[in-house]
Amino acid sequence: MPTTSIDIFDADTAARHLPRFSDILIDSVEGGALVGHVIPVNAAAVASYWEGVFASVGVGERLLICATVDGEIVGTVQLYLSPEPNAPHRGEVYKLLVHPTFRNRGIGEALMKAVEVEARNRARTLLLLDTVQGGPAERLYGRLGWQAIGVVPRHFVDPWGELRSSVYMMRFLDSEIS
Ligand SMILES: CC(C)(COP(=O)(O)OP(=O)(O)OC[C@H]1O[C@@H](n2cnc3c(N)ncnc32)[C@H](O)[C@@H]1OP(=O)(O)O)[C@@H](O)C(=O)NCCC(=O)NCCS
Repeated sequence: MPTTSIDIFDADTAARHLPRFSDILIDSVEGGALVGHVIPVNAAAVASYWEGVFASVGVGERLLICATVDGEIVGTVQLYLSPEPNAPHRGEVYKLLVHPTFRNRGIGEALMKAVEVEARNRARTLLLLDTVQGGPAERLYGRLGWQAIGVVPRHFVDPWGELRSSVYMMRFLDSEIS
């Protein structure tokens, strides 16, 4: 039985795994995911994206949460800790990615549950994200209690250049706030 673990990576650890992070993002885009890049994927731009993420982790403004199966990184998600003085209670979720080979076995859900735990631990009780409308991620978020707050038509293009709508979603972790 494979062993799955969910861990927060520091910047140095993450940087040592740059090629694997890039593979997960590139394979996801080539499989149709709307996660910032298009086909043909520019590998240098993907590497540069991850280096920016690692720098952000290094200064403490973002958590990089990773799923590992038998020592191999198979998925990741980021929790950005909004730094504004008027948003100490807010977090933003970015780039939930599970490598295509490891999907449909609960890893995406486990990563999102870890986001909630880490957000709660930091008193980040309002979480926000956006995702392509009608995709597996929207279903996952809905199942986990996220609420759709609006649709943006033509928000971004898919990996092949077709315009797609996004849905903005939110989740309160403190039920006393409404
Ligand atoms: C969205 C994404 C992260 C989901 O990851 P995942 O690990 O497949 O998610 P889960 O396994 O938790 O759930 C996916 C499906 O598998 C099902 N599932 C979970 N465990 C399962 C199991 N043991 N056996 C069979 N099915 C299972 C879930 O019920 C869910 O079904 P649904 O899609 O019909 O609702 C993944 O598809 C992905 O990386 N997509 C590309 C990137 C992307 O779009 N990210 C979102 C950016 S906002």
